[in-house]
Amino acid sequence: MYYPEDIVEEVRTRNDIVDVISGYVKLQKKGSNYFGLCPFHNEKSPSFSVSPQKQMYYCFGCGAGGNVITFVMEYENYTFPEALKVLADRAGIKLPEVEYSKEERAKADKRSTLLEINKLAANYFYYQLHQPQGKIGYDYFKKRELSDETIRRFGLGFANKVSNDLYQYMRSKGYQDEILRETGLFTMDERGTYDKFWNRVMFPILDVNSRVIGFGGRVMGDGTPKYLNSPETMIFDKSRNLYGLNYARTSREKFMLACEGYMDVIAMHQAGFTNAVASLGTAFTTQHAALLKRYTDTVVLTYDSDGAGTKAALRAIPILKEVGISTKVLSLTPYKDPDEFIKNLGTDAFRERIEQAKNSFLFEIDVLKREYDLNDPEQKTQFYNATARRLLEFTETLERDNYTQAVAKEHFIPYEDLRRLVNRLGNQLGGAPVRPQSGAYGSYEDRGERAREPRKKREKEDGIRQSQRLLLTWLIERPQLFEKIEGIVGPEDFREPLYHQVAQMVFDGHARGEVNPAGILNHFINDEEQYKQVAALFNASLKESLNNEEQQKAFSETVLRVRRNSLDMASRNATDIGELQRIIKEQAALKTLHVTID
Ligand code: UTP
Ligand code: MN
Repeated sequence: MYYPEDIVEEVRTRNDIVDVISGYVKLQKKGSNYFGLCPFHNEKSPSFSVSPQKQMYYCFGCGAGGNVITFVMEYENYTFPEALKVLADRAGIKLPEVEYSKEERAKADKRSTLLEINKLAANYFYYQLHQPQGKIGYDYFKKRELSDETIRRFGLGFANKVSNDLYQYMRSKGYQDEILRETGLFTMDERGTYDKFWNRVMFPILDVNSRVIGFGGRVMGDGTPKYLNSPETMIFDKSRNLYGLNYARTSREKFMLACEGYMDVIAMHQAGFTNAVASLGTAFTTQHAALLKRYTDTVVLTYDSDGAGTKAALRAIPILKEVGISTKVLSLTPYKDPDEFIKNLGTDAFRERIEQAKNSFLFEIDVLKREYDLNDPEQKTQFYNATARRLLEFTETLERDNYTQAVAKEHFIPYEDLRRLVNRLGNQLGGAPVRPQSGAYGSYEDRGERAREPRKKREKEDGIRQSQRLLLTWLIERPQLFEKIEGIVGPEDFREPLYHQVAQMVFDGHARGEVNPAGILNHFINDEEQYKQVAALFNASLKESLNNEEQQKAFSETVLRVRRNSLDMASRNATDIGELQRIIKEQAALKTLHVTID
């Protein structure tokens, strides 16, 4: 870790977790905790909890959990130092200058040098565009109806016909081949060094913070490749950046427009749709979706109206759904892409198309329909069956029914008939309608007796861990219980290394008079897997609904189970007879032991 522990703790304690998370998620108080819809997965009823007492969040749905620092890291996709900085600023704390290791320093230096070179290159291309030799590029942009303001806003430029002038320029600025090689702007071989971009109009690619991380370059006319893009470099990760997002993120619209091309983004922004973004000559990825999810819940796809565009839309829909974004699909017919549409039909027509954008499920059914010849009765039946199967993917009855109605209406299928078909197929497929099985493992019951063994063992281990989680959660939420278990259970009864380490911290904290789960979490911040496990340790779901007597019983059972399991393990590992006798005695004593809550 870069910062001293006490500074990290100060930053953490001076940022109340409920305050911070309320800025991102709508929270409602319920008992001693707050609840809201989890920002890390798609859900309809709130299972995301924030505990002011523990200063932790935890999602009972997806298991995301942590303290205020990791929340900011996960939500904003920040590194630890970045999140710390934001929270320190928020609390008015000045962070000390950090000491990086030599390697970290070298890496950070290299990144900033690469960013510096890219920025210089963007300025160079922009300058060229406005010189006599760049007029051909400037004219090209004008032919495509871009205003001077748009050219400036997107920093568009021109790469000359001279085959290495950018290289000469960078050398004159003192950059060595070693670093220039890593920019992706040059090709270097035996014959010499040449500019990668040559006789093209240039589109600098900016990250969300408006730093130049790469380029796209277009031929001015027909020629291949139409667009040439920077290769991925240390600072350019295509699957984690979206063209136009630096502007789109500050747009006031509630939704984002996603399209395929640089020119589409630019045309939409110029027409006032400043919430448009595009992936960078690559397919839409989960990381792109996660990036968008930070800014919006709804995406309108404005992909090309051709086959490739439709395919790309069909691919993107489930990816967006996975992160909890609902998608609509905009129809551009009869034009190919947003740029052409806006040029021909104008801004108002485009806005109308946004309003008419189609729910992604209905879009998928439209595409499905094209595969069938509906004049043929057999194919028509097949289409209905296929549609019914798709409808079965909605697990909630009400939602499924709403979609059944919508599909019926749109495709002129009698609603009652379609509904019956859906139900019948659902029954055939076995009980309640379900999503298509992922089918990676098959069910255990199919696999005979031998396969069951490890499963039982695993279940038992899960049960034991669960008891330990419950116990720690209990102790953290009600520190007065430490007294009740004194002499019965201690940190040594948590036998797995990680659980043991954490239990020790919890008990030590109690001995000092402060149990500090969110602080303990900081120790695990560099290991995502451990971090998750520890967060889960403090957030076992205690059934608050239990009455006093039931709670009493549950607590007592948990304590005894943890202790019993610990003794079992000890007896299995015991090496001398005296030790074993002592363990047996303690096991016997457990049977008559009584643990109380109050
Ligand atoms: P399109 O071929 O649909 O081009 O590629 P476009 O966006 O309509 O471009 P214009 O209007 O002809 O200028 C869509 C996107 O795919 C990537 C680019 O990001 C482009 O914007 N692409 C396309 C490439 O990376 N390389 C190519 O050769 C072609
Ligand atoms: Mn186009």
